Amino acid sequence: MAVETETGVLAAYYTLAAASIPTPDLPSEITKKLPRYPTMPAVRIGRLAVGLQFQGQGLGGSLPADCLRRVLTAAPGVFALLVDAKDDNAVAFYRRYGFTQLTGQPRTLFLPVASAEKLLR
Ligand SMILES: CC(C)(COP(=O)(O)OP(=O)(O)OC[C@H]1O[C@@H](n2cnc3c(N)ncnc32)[C@H](O)[C@@H]1OP(=O)(O)O)[C@@H](O)C(=O)NCCC(=O)NCCS
Repeated sequence: MAVETETGVLAAYYTLAAASIPTPDLPSEITKKLPRYPTMPAVRIGRLAVGLQFQGQGLGGSLPADCLRRVLTAAPGVFALLVDAKDDNAVAFYRRYGFTQLTGQPRTLFLPVASAEKLLR
């Protein structure tokens, strides 16, 4: 949660949960470099949102990187962040930050943590 310091008002939040991605749903240019496991470990971002009065100020755009930092420090062996976008606007939002749609699942997007970590640095 992000809370406005002065007022204590909740400004933004998200949840993280352990998840997995069926390996055949990943693009072949990625799977050819992966071990032949049936699924790859992931962390699912859920319920990511910014309060109406706090939108448009850069807070939402900082949340994907915050998720990534939290996953990199807390969960070893995670291949990717995963998110179920609620609509096409949310798909566009996540694509800005490097997320890619899974094969045949246009509203489910993933971000490999190894490549994202390089961008973070
Ligand atoms: C999507 C959401 C989190 C963005 O939060 P925000 O604090 O307004 O976002 P920011 O001000 O940090 O904007 C970051 C960038 O994303 C863009 N953006 C904002 N909302 C967007 C949307 N719905 N679709 C596509 N791009 C969006 C902004 O134009 C901005 O681009 P810029 O950096 O080029 O200026 C917020 O609108 C929200 O909570 N929406 C309702 C819930 C939702 O859709 N969650 C998505 C998960 S399913």
